Amino acid sequence: MSRGIENCPYHKELNAAYKPFDLTDPFPFYKKVRETCPIFYSEELGYYVVSKYEDIKAIFGNWQAFSSENAQSPSKPIAQKAKALMDSAGLVGLSGLSGRIPPDHTRIRRIVSMAFNLARIKKLEPAIREIAIRMIEEMKDGKSEAELVSALAYDLPALVIFKLLGVPDSDVDQVKSWAESRLLLTWGDLDEDAQMMHAENMIRYWNYCQKLVSDRKTTMQDDLAGDLVTLQAEGHEITDREIAAICYSQLFAGHETTTSLIGNGVRELLVHRESWAAIKIDPTWIPKAVDEILRYSPSILSWRRKCKAATEVGGVLIPEGADVLMVMGSGNRDEAMYENGESFNIERPNAATHLSFGSGIHFCLGSPLAKLEFKVVLEELTARIPTLQLKPGQTFSFAPNTSFRAPQGLQVQW
Ligand code: HEM
Repeated sequence: MSRGIENCPYHKELNAAYKPFDLTDPFPFYKKVRETCPIFYSEELGYYVVSKYEDIKAIFGNWQAFSSENAQSPSKPIAQKAKALMDSAGLVGLSGLSGRIPPDHTRIRRIVSMAFNLARIKKLEPAIREIAIRMIEEMKDGKSEAELVSALAYDLPALVIFKLLGVPDSDVDQVKSWAESRLLLTWGDLDEDAQMMHAENMIRYWNYCQKLVSDRKTTMQDDLAGDLVTLQAEGHEITDREIAAICYSQLFAGHETTTSLIGNGVRELLVHRESWAAIKIDPTWIPKAVDEILRYSPSILSWRRKCKAATEVGGVLIPEGADVLMVMGSGNRDEAMYENGESFNIERPNAATHLSFGSGIHFCLGSPLAKLEFKVVLEELTARIPTLQLKPGQTFSFAPNTSFRAPQGLQVQW
């Protein structure tokens, strides 16, 4: 029989202890939630918080009842002036894939998957390696210490996505600064003037993506935008606007998430030194280590859904209209799924079943690219700076928000 949240005797205690914006070390709290009241209602957020692996998977898997429409809605309402400006440029409600639902989502995702396939990703490997080597050598050059997030983790994924999309090197700095505005406008805490400035930048970036598409119609290039234009010409049903929206969202989807994977991942390997030693001696362990890092220390700790029809999950009735926060960072350590889930173990046989890339129809399209980027970084880092270690005495901090566990810095020495 389904029960309401109010029956959970720990509800009050969990509410008092929950610090949804502090991502420093939320894992002991998640464990407590799983063991006491696996779905509770956070009064501070106004969200149902879901902590068990099976329950999160069920919600990801039920797109009819749990819509992704709120997944990327701004954390602070956009001021009327900035909204009107974005509306006039056709930016309000624009989504590549993640905010769409079938049948549109199915149609577009099928075509994008044909272009953004393993062959296209494999083609990027030499460029990824070249960028990684250049950045590691610059970081190392004549020095014995560095801050690894700014020296390596931050720029590398953006440069890779620009290669994927076909943005020429000469445009990279400009386009990057425009694209960062999207993150600030969606997740930041901006006043009205700052919102206007960032809205203008987003329009510039959107116009740039539209031009990428129209340029491919006159001069074909071997990149993702070119592949999508070719598929369109072959009769696959996708509009210019939909292709531009894919390009527009790709940078957002694949930049900071991969930066955090590299930053969090190198930190975990240096904290658990035996794992760093193991991949250094035998790099064939690197792919397993990448999966375990994704499970243990995910870039996105939690993700949102809107309940469209009252549905029972894990014995709790989630009412229609409710906002739901799926805590993948908790599900990934659920002892019902992972033996000794709280321990870091690169030999874990089922690490790849983690929820860090989501599940179901919106499962991350860029997951093979993110994993490849981090694999190449680790191969080059272990070979070029094998004595890498953490600088002692540092504290690790993360930008305050509910979802993105982005390390603010990582001081390393060798
Ligand atoms: C560590 C890095 C990454 C993480 C943790 C991550 C995480 C996620 C998650 C959780 C979702 C599911 C969203 C939902 O269900 O609402 C998702 C979707 C998506 N991701 Fe990623 N992502 C990463 C890297 C990338 C990269 C590198 C790209 C592309 C270059 C990318 C492109 C996408 C796209 C296009 C979707 C939407 C798919 C759809 O709605 O059908 N991601 N990602």
